[in-house]
Amino acid sequence: MAMPKDIPSADLPNNVLNEFKEFDETKAGVKGLVDSGIEKIPGFFIQPQELLPKSSEIAPPTLQVPIIDLGAIHKDAGSYKQIVQELQQASDSWGFFHLVNHSVPKDLLDEVIQGVKGFHEGDKDVKEKLYSRDRTKKVRFASNLRLYQLGAANWRDTLTCVFDGSLDPTEIPLVCRDAIMKYREAILQVAETLYELLSAALGLPSDQIRGMNCAKTQLMVAHYYPPCPEPELTLGTSIHTDPSFVTFLIQDDLGGLQILHDGHWVNVAPIPGALVVNIGDLLQLASNDKFKSVKHRVLASSRPRISVATFFNPDFDEKKLFGPIKELLSDTNPPLYKDFLVADYIKAYVSKGLTASALSYLKL
Ligand code: OGA
Ligand code: NI
Repeated sequence: MAMPKDIPSADLPNNVLNEFKEFDETKAGVKGLVDSGIEKIPGFFIQPQELLPKSSEIAPPTLQVPIIDLGAIHKDAGSYKQIVQELQQASDSWGFFHLVNHSVPKDLLDEVIQGVKGFHEGDKDVKEKLYSRDRTKKVRFASNLRLYQLGAANWRDTLTCVFDGSLDPTEIPLVCRDAIMKYREAILQVAETLYELLSAALGLPSDQIRGMNCAKTQLMVAHYYPPCPEPELTLGTSIHTDPSFVTFLIQDDLGGLQILHDGHWVNVAPIPGALVVNIGDLLQLASNDKFKSVKHRVLASSRPRISVATFFNPDFDEKKLFGPIKELLSDTNPPLYKDFLVADYIKAYVSKGLTASALSYLKL
């Protein structure tokens, strides 16, 4: 396998590393800095000029991420076919879409956002006790999970829950525990439906993707983007693609998520009650580039923002090789990627930071 096993962390000057370390050891995250009353952001949050948003690269507001309405999915064959067609177009040309009428109650989505806000704005001791970079912990809190590799830090704190069958729900902070558990159940259902539709959109039997076991692990990251005193100098989340199969995201009403579409950044304007779904690297690869895993980022803001992303992934210990779906391949559509073990893919991703996609290492 040509994937790098261990890429050393970014070449950071010692003083910057020490500042990082000092910040990390507060175990209070970016919210802790804000609470301490800072008026200028520490140097290690300042992004290089070329990565900061430029107004000339923003798409006109008329350009909007597609909306897929699942309301009529069980109505008749014609409606189903139309949904499949819309999904196919959205996955191919946008890689991102809003799902509406997806059966998860809006009240539950609001409860999740409120619960996550409660955690991040709540008891400092609870947060400090959960603060950890230990990837074997199923529930943990940290700021900048890849702080030591990225170079410039992001203005964001994150509560992570890894649902891989061994998570003990009582480890989830009480303020958001019920909401997170209910929400996780609810999106498992939506993922079943989505996988059926995605199979159809690829021209495959409806149970094909479900059979690939790609909802086995759900990695939920509940983000808090604290109010930033100098939002024009940093980013909430650096430019990246998701290494997942698919990602489900809910966001509050502030906005700030942007996706790269035809060379322009398009705002993913919040739609109350909608789920934002995007194609991850693993689905782009499985679809042999028919569907696109698209670059996105989150702006920093003077107002706080909450979002919860859930990455749907295969079993991390899957023994079968993962690769382009064989039924899609032919003489005219040869495989663009090699087959690999999911465990090796995860290892490579973890070792190299959030900015580059692992897909390039797997290209044939
Ligand atoms: C992510 C992500 C977007 C957001 O967690 O991968 O892209 O709006 N989040 O927080
Ligand atoms: Ni993302």
